Amino acid sequence: MKNLTTHELRKLFLEFFSERGHAVIPSASLIPENDPSVLFTTAGMHPLMPYLMGAEHPAGKRLCDVQKCVRTGDIDEVGDASHLTFFEMLGNWSLGDYFKSESIAWSWEFLTDEKWLGIDKDRLYFSCFEGDENAPKDEFSHDRWVDMGVDPSHIFYLNAKHNWWIPGTSGPCGPDTEIFFDTGKAPCCETCSPACSCGKYLEIWNNVFMQYYKAPDGKMSMLEKKNVDTGMGLERTVATLQGAESVYDTDAFTNILARIAELSGKNYKSDADTVKAFRIIADHIRTATFMLGDPRGVTPSNVDQGYILRRLIRRALRYAMQLEMGENALSKVAEVVVADYGEVYPELKEHAEHIKKELDTEELKFQRTLANGMREFERIKGKFVGGVIDGASAFRLFDTVGFPIEFTEELARENGLTVDVEGFRERFAEHQQKSKAGSEQKFKGGLAEANEETTKLHSATHLLQAALRKVLGDEVAQKGSNITTERLRFDFSFPRKVTPEELAEVEALVNDAIKAAVPVTCEEMSEAEARALGAIGLFQYGEKVKVYTMGAYSCEMCGGPHVSNTAELGTFKIKKEEASSAGVRRIKAVLIPNYR
Ligand code: SER
Repeated sequence: MKNLTTHELRKLFLEFFSERGHAVIPSASLIPENDPSVLFTTAGMHPLMPYLMGAEHPAGKRLCDVQKCVRTGDIDEVGDASHLTFFEMLGNWSLGDYFKSESIAWSWEFLTDEKWLGIDKDRLYFSCFEGDENAPKDEFSHDRWVDMGVDPSHIFYLNAKHNWWIPGTSGPCGPDTEIFFDTGKAPCCETCSPACSCGKYLEIWNNVFMQYYKAPDGKMSMLEKKNVDTGMGLERTVATLQGAESVYDTDAFTNILARIAELSGKNYKSDADTVKAFRIIADHIRTATFMLGDPRGVTPSNVDQGYILRRLIRRALRYAMQLEMGENALSKVAEVVVADYGEVYPELKEHAEHIKKELDTEELKFQRTLANGMREFERIKGKFVGGVIDGASAFRLFDTVGFPIEFTEELARENGLTVDVEGFRERFAEHQQKSKAGSEQKFKGGLAEANEETTKLHSATHLLQAALRKVLGDEVAQKGSNITTERLRFDFSFPRKVTPEELAEVEALVNDAIKAAVPVTCEEMSEAEARALGAIGLFQYGEKVKVYTMGAYSCEMCGGPHVSNTAELGTFKIKKEEASSAGVRRIKAVLIPNYR
């Protein structure tokens, strides 16, 4: 098995698939463009959604990439051997080109051939879909692995919970075959298999055969084309190759952990609590740095992406305080992330100042929060009967003042009180359920559906951006876009409130473009040509970009889809203008159908 660095594996993966006719496309933003089903790009497939649904990709039918991803659903697992909130996903893609046979053969070759990773085949295990009412048992994949030389005892048929991939609850989907590395740990039980989460089998690669589409109403149909979506976890695979005991014990984290050790004067491995604190700080600050440094950057706030970012920063700060890392510790750790990743992700270098400033500001704000929390604690501490702070009060301190439970426990101890932590956890779990339902999967619909309403709102978003730039000036740039079947939401950089007069003007300009009934045309060209044409937009996906033009009203790089004539949009109405975060405004708007 080759002992590769993170950077070497990235390069080797892209080289392998380029040699096999795949165009290398750059990572898309961490903030999905016009895909309202998720807050962050959680897998390589999100930015490619329109193409998995059938649109032509300008770079062709075979693609490969390294995509930045954020998943915060597992945040409580961070600190163990394999969970991270930010990770890079290596992917190869077939958009209606090759299917199971080539996909499996290439995965096998890349993993086991001495020229590539050279992993011992006896340490690899596989799972295939066992079949259900939606799709048959995937015997083809099973037999293909056997053709490759896999012993059938290493292949497990598992159910849809394990071997069916779908982005959330609806969208392009299909059975997958997953590849696991046997870490060599003792089996957890007699039936220990890749289906357990005991840690013996580490999932390193997932090949999804996307040939189905699940509509929001649950109806399954066949996609126009059969696609392959594969995702290999970069950090996990590097840990495997380096024989590391966790993803943190690889070269990806060496410098980050060293900086934490330097600032805290402590040893990473001194005891279990310190290991956990180091890992949480390292993970959360790496994620925060990528969020702040993203081209469509996020700033800390109390809603959506900004809220998740704030929680990550505050959690990291709490551990930084525990380790006594001193002032501005987080931005000092972030410096290392920027230095380590800046070559591959130049946006981090570009936004280095901004990253530092935001982390330092957030640190100051958190100090204030803690001071407020202490005051609130002093106010209520005398009220507790029997010296127990009940769960509801502890949760209120957490929810309203942002006071972490560990701080409440510490203060309680100092004051001879105890905390009903169980009660706190129950309330916390209820809250999490609500916010999970309400945040990560908040919006249904969007490009996965690519239905009439979302397509219209997407086209209206282009007209809105163009109108804003006309009325407010070219400093207006897209900071985020989110579309449901009911409304569009557009975030843009602008330093002050937009006046009602200006909003009326923007609205009128959009409606003029609609009344003009101009055709919407799409052309493919290089990004440089697009910029020369004056096309705006952030979406870059390789050598060629699509440029959508709506008469003289709008010219923007975008993946689509769009209506074919602006007349289809009805009447455009701005419902709300508000602040989204510092220097970023948010507009919500709707389209009202014209009844003739
Ligand atoms: N979409 C699949 C995953 O995220 C494969 O890329 O695992």
